[in-house]
Amino acid sequence: MRKLLTLTVACAMLITMSLQAQTHEMIVQMKKVGAPIQSTMYGLFFEDINFAADGGLYAELVQNRSFEFPQHLYGWKTVGNVQVLDNGPFERNPHYVRLGYAGHKHKFTVIENSGTFGIGLKEGATYRFSVWARQVTTGAPCKIRVELCDPYTNGERQAFVTQRLTIDSKEWKKYEVVLQSTRTLQKASLRVFLEGQQAVDLEHVSLFPTDTWKGRENGLRKDLAQALSDLKPGIFRFPGGCIVEGTDLETRYNWKNTVGPVENRPLNENRWQYTFPYRYLPDYYQSYGLGFFEFFQLCEDLGADALPVVSCGLACQFQNDDPAAHQPMDKIDSYVQDALDLIEFANGSTDTKWGKLRAEMGHEAPFNLKYIGIGNEQWDAIYPEHLEPFVKAIRKAYPNIKIVGSSGPNSEGDQFDYLWPEMKRLGADLVDEHFYRPADWFLSQGARYDNYDRKGPKVFAGEYACHITGKKYNHFYPALLEAAFMTGLERNADIVHMATYAPLFAHVEGWQWRPDLIWFDNLNVVRTASYYVQKLYSTYKGTNVLNLTMNGKPVTGDSEQDGLFASSVMNSTNGKVYVKVANTSSNNQYVSVKLEGLKKGKNYKSAKAVVLQSDDLEAENSIDNPNLIQPVEIDLQITNNTVSGSIPAHAFVVVIINE
Ligand code: AHR
Repeated sequence: MRKLLTLTVACAMLITMSLQAQTHEMIVQMKKVGAPIQSTMYGLFFEDINFAADGGLYAELVQNRSFEFPQHLYGWKTVGNVQVLDNGPFERNPHYVRLGYAGHKHKFTVIENSGTFGIGLKEGATYRFSVWARQVTTGAPCKIRVELCDPYTNGERQAFVTQRLTIDSKEWKKYEVVLQSTRTLQKASLRVFLEGQQAVDLEHVSLFPTDTWKGRENGLRKDLAQALSDLKPGIFRFPGGCIVEGTDLETRYNWKNTVGPVENRPLNENRWQYTFPYRYLPDYYQSYGLGFFEFFQLCEDLGADALPVVSCGLACQFQNDDPAAHQPMDKIDSYVQDALDLIEFANGSTDTKWGKLRAEMGHEAPFNLKYIGIGNEQWDAIYPEHLEPFVKAIRKAYPNIKIVGSSGPNSEGDQFDYLWPEMKRLGADLVDEHFYRPADWFLSQGARYDNYDRKGPKVFAGEYACHITGKKYNHFYPALLEAAFMTGLERNADIVHMATYAPLFAHVEGWQWRPDLIWFDNLNVVRTASYYVQKLYSTYKGTNVLNLTMNGKPVTGDSEQDGLFASSVMNSTNGKVYVKVANTSSNNQYVSVKLEGLKKGKNYKSAKAVVLQSDDLEAENSIDNPNLIQPVEIDLQITNNTVSGSIPAHAFVVVIINE
């Protein structure tokens, strides 16, 4: 990230210059170290929206690999003698295909899959093809030919990699072969031909890159997981979002269906398939290949605490007016039990039912789960009513687990005002607030948490993003406003314990919702300007808040503060001070930051700044230009424990001051 800037716009900023304009003098009080910043302060919220899981982070390249989409051959082209049968080896995914002789030696029986928006392949990379298969006629070995193809090529041959497998048993068995791609292609396809006349049964047809995140077979796309890892998240909320609730209870996210052997995890309808009819994606289902075990494992890899969210028995309240859509209170026990079982799955000893399953899946040690969310965006009295039995049961069985409740879908208003006291009454440890709000809201909320109840539950800003009306998305301006707003989270770290931007991922061809933190196609990743804002906060998180004022007041963008927002923290492990300043105005602002209250003779010796800035407020990182907006570093002068300089219009700056 470190770049020496010479001719770029950042060259003009934060270099000491004569005092022509008004100086904004910010004072950082060093005498008294403030509230600790929780390790969970900056994190990630993952939801399977915008093809974030299947077709995204989950590295499987075959769509509808188990033939369980409601149209069983959805995603497959079939030619010749192909039948779908339903007495396969996996109870919860019973369908499979039978490939029989096409009837003539010059005809084919073949199935072809084009993945989700195509199969992305990289030249030189290897891919593991696997399939469960059996002979149809005992003792009649049969062969399949597996090909990676460019179905759209104008060249001589479509197939550029070919391998053969002999199916040597009448019993269902898993067969594998590794294919090395000789091409880089966004939209390849996989073809499986029957060779010869002996019929074969095929189930769970899969293709994975061998080079997944941490090399796991049922693994994650490495480049996308790396983008998460680079954010160093402290908390990871999953699996949603509205997906937890489902359009109906039948399609809610049911964690128990997502664990155990991957071949036997039943398919779920993804509610984002049709939630926005103007962005209808008919092939959006959840294979649950990325399930709760994989989520916990990812959290562990990322060094983040897991925050799983479970259904509280309320189907999506936006989509259901009829109270009968929800789980009746006299039948809520099974939902409560699901939550208790989840804690056992994560933390239980291996002689418990669910702890044993965790161990069988490859993780004997507990995952050390500390948090659980009950419900997503719920509202009205029906929510506290449903939440209460969960709180009672969890407190009784697992008194150390922290419970996250909801304040509804809005950042303020009647429901919000009703739910916060209710969460306090029920003893929720944290309350999840969501705000997808416009620019003026973000500009007006710098002091949002300054007067919150210090004796109530802690705040989890669980889903937020600045939504600017108009045609541009994930451009620089909303990211800047998010950065400005986040100074208020940081200043109030005594009560704000977690914050996660939303949503996390979006496939450029399959999104339902934007803006999003990370965009991708089958081969590339785009880290947005908002991503870099999150990264700057998590990188320069610090350990404790330091009081920062301008003219004796916190810097919250109020009407006398010229569009400035600021906060500061210290890192007690290395003595550094991090000051974050957002200039949301259209003018350069001359700012000085003075460290006050230092012990006599104490002098901070050097400083630098990391700057995120764009003259073009509509500029955005994209597949074609992924690095347009990036933080850059510049060195600063420090004199008498004071750093000063001009911050250009529309810039977010982190000043790092070293002892
Ligand atoms: O992040 C997209 C959706 O926004 C989430 O599913 C929901 O919680 C919120 O309304």
